[in-house]
Amino acid sequence: MDNFLTSADLKKIPSLQPDVVVVGSGIAALSTAIELAQKKNVLIITKSSAVNTATAKAQGGIAAAIDEVNATSHLDDTLLAGGGLCDSKMVRIMVDEGIEFVNKLIENGVAFDKNDKKIAFTLEGGHSERRVLHAEGDATGKVIHKSLIEEIYKNPKIQLLEEHFEIDLLYHEDVCYGVLCLDCKYGRLLRIDSQAVVVATGGIGQIYRETTNPEIATGDGVAMCFRAGAMLSDMEFVQFHPTTLYLAGAPRFLISEAVRGEGAHLLSLDNKRFMVEQHPLAELAPRDIVSKSIINIMHETNTSHVLLDLRHMDKALIQKRFPTISALCLEYGVDITKNPIPVRPAAHYMMGGVKTGEYGETNIKRLYACGEVACTGVHGANRLASNSLLEGLVFGKRAAKHILENLSSDVGYFPLNEIKRKEFSRATPLDITDILLSLRALCWRDIGIYRDECQLNDAEKNITFWEQYVLREEFSSREGFELQNQLTVAKIIARSALIRKESRGAHQRIDYPDTDDKKWKTHILLSRKDFHD
Ligand code: SIN
Repeated sequence: MDNFLTSADLKKIPSLQPDVVVVGSGIAALSTAIELAQKKNVLIITKSSAVNTATAKAQGGIAAAIDEVNATSHLDDTLLAGGGLCDSKMVRIMVDEGIEFVNKLIENGVAFDKNDKKIAFTLEGGHSERRVLHAEGDATGKVIHKSLIEEIYKNPKIQLLEEHFEIDLLYHEDVCYGVLCLDCKYGRLLRIDSQAVVVATGGIGQIYRETTNPEIATGDGVAMCFRAGAMLSDMEFVQFHPTTLYLAGAPRFLISEAVRGEGAHLLSLDNKRFMVEQHPLAELAPRDIVSKSIINIMHETNTSHVLLDLRHMDKALIQKRFPTISALCLEYGVDITKNPIPVRPAAHYMMGGVKTGEYGETNIKRLYACGEVACTGVHGANRLASNSLLEGLVFGKRAAKHILENLSSDVGYFPLNEIKRKEFSRATPLDITDILLSLRALCWRDIGIYRDECQLNDAEKNITFWEQYVLREEFSSREGFELQNQLTVAKIIARSALIRKESRGAHQRIDYPDTDDKKWKTHILLSRKDFHD
């Protein structure tokens, strides 16, 4: 495999020299940039428009131990959901420091919903108490993102470049010097030299046929860091959200867990409230358990979905709490106050990612990662609902702090003048969409909720075969690079899932159904060296 996705004569392409470049535009990226801008000039690049991010789509909310909420129980619930693989020190950091940062959001004008002047916390799966803050009902992410992006626009030390795709890190001998990117509008390369690079590109959901993730979630950050030699951890742990809208032609729209938090029931198509028999918390069991139970019921009853029933709930509460969900369902003929919503699980969140320390630092000097692309250890084998916005906020700020305290301007430039790939040409054009559809179907079937050795081997074999000719191609479009990144990410997930011969949290092996603490209460770490290409 070539080290870079494109060849480039670095002397001949335009360049920018911010102090720090932040890649991505979700909560982790924006919080890092705002903090860094106290002292540094920051450039944010994002491959789409800045609002096209999973953060802006987050519905449920942000978990935080503010007001009278207990921080220790937040920590305990996170550890319990994480199936024994959370790093408790990192969880403690997230829970404790999260309090200050969420209060700061409030000070900066984020209007979380209130009841009688007090924050109206909601409940979600795996939470033993109400600690999830929400805004405009089910538009929490949108409200937080708006507040952060307004700060970015006002800050003269931050420049935002939209429609700029990060192709590769400029790295040499375990040091990162910047990013090579594609200006998507004009189709030209741009080189960015910086003292540090913060990768906050989000998740990988688009490798799956069924996902809640926006179309930008193509694993570019993970794949780019992997090519540069970064260590990845826990890549077998992909969280499947139990309830996404399942209607032909409608988007796989998330139906927030908060809907169950406010009292909705899950029913099989023969009207049985099946979660009551599965777990003491019924519909509010941790996500991995609810998703598995739904898949089991679908198999048993030979159906394509189950139902989420709100008909017994107060109509005014439904409209107030879930305006976005109500409006979207209505567009497809489902009045959620009168009709149960057809739902099924879909890929939602990557618990693994680029392994980082307490400050987002990676094994590559001057390269940081935060948000969903990173594996800080706070989620273990299964993330507690509404901890992701909190993680992005806390570890984004910490990465910035580390950069401000440790990096100076005399760090030196990328030493190579040119990046060269092996020559390759093909007479027939490659059909990107065709490979992508095949990859998505394969990932859903073979590295989805239930896995076994035979499926996982099949996945790795097929992906390796496609890689042979897809990775050799030199693309010049975002879609081509994204396809290459998605193949890389899918292969790493398949390999990690093959290695972990047990079931734990979001990783369920049919051939190893038990959790084996003796052998597997450990992390699977993979880097480029572990793959022969
Ligand atoms: C949801 O609203 O159910 C999603 C929240 C999350 O993934 O944390």
